[in-house]
Amino acid sequence: MKKAIIIGASSGIGEALVDFLVNDGYVVGITARREELLIAIQKKFPERVFYKVMDVQQTDKIEQICTDLCSTIGGLDLMIISAGIGHLNKNLDFSISDNVVKTNVSGFTCVANWSMNYFQKQGSGHLANISSIAGLLGNGIAPSYNATKAYQINYFNGLRKKVKKLKLRIHLTDIRPGFVDTAMVKGKGVFWIQPVDKATKQIYTAILKKKKRVYITKRWALIAFIIRLKPSLF
Ligand SMILES: NC(=O)c1ccc[n+]([C@@H]2O[C@H](COP(=O)([O-])OP(=O)(O)OC[C@H]3O[C@@H](n4cnc5c(N)ncnc54)[C@H](OP(=O)(O)O)[C@@H]3O)[C@@H](O)[C@H]2O)c1
Repeated sequence: MKKAIIIGASSGIGEALVDFLVNDGYVVGITARREELLIAIQKKFPERVFYKVMDVQQTDKIEQICTDLCSTIGGLDLMIISAGIGHLNKNLDFSISDNVVKTNVSGFTCVANWSMNYFQKQGSGHLANISSIAGLLGNGIAPSYNATKAYQINYFNGLRKKVKKLKLRIHLTDIRPGFVDTAMVKGKGVFWIQPVDKATKQIYTAILKKKKRVYITKRWALIAFIIRLKPSLF
């Protein structure tokens, strides 16, 4: 039986991915801060889903919690990082920026490093992260969100180089959604917003195919192409 952990599984895309994995026969470890939501998911699949409360901002605790959850589910084949926040910050309040950076940069890096080291020791594994098409652009009202997503994309590019150089059997999937209808989506200018189930189905398919990078839904690949071609338009 395959084993997966989802970081940030209490709502949105992470929560929706639990169903796909369980239906495919995975044993799944789930983490987030809101314990009551984790318990509700665990109760849906009492023999397949196990949870640990984890705040990714508390980086000193991540290693131990991931190691414990891994022992509980009996190993690890796939790690999915879906924990993330984004806040509008028109007045450039540092506490808002700092909160986003601590989650999307420090928390993300700590989980990614733990996963890579675990998979390197094991000799195989698959790490997937939900970054965003936002990582390709600056954003005037949520600058730290886009900047942290650019960091995640670049970090994965670095990990890919390490995997190639050391000939590691580790797959990396960088998932770049446009707008998905979750609690996170805020503000004006939202378009092509997709239901969570449709977006998550495409995300899951990309993970199964071990794609290197994918835009969700597919039409966002066109926007990414235009951004690369004519960055001054944005
Ligand atoms: N929705 C979109 O349009 C969209 C587009 C592109 C990329 N994304 C990315 O997709 C990922 C998932 O977001 P979503 O849309 O599914 O939104 P969501 O429903 O708000 O889910 C975010 C998840 O992250 C967890 N999380 C947040 N802060 C955390 C922390 N400090 N420690 C541990 N877990 C934390 C939340 O759990 P707790 O609050 O319980 O801790 C929740 O499970 C994010 O990385 C987001 O940037 C979303």
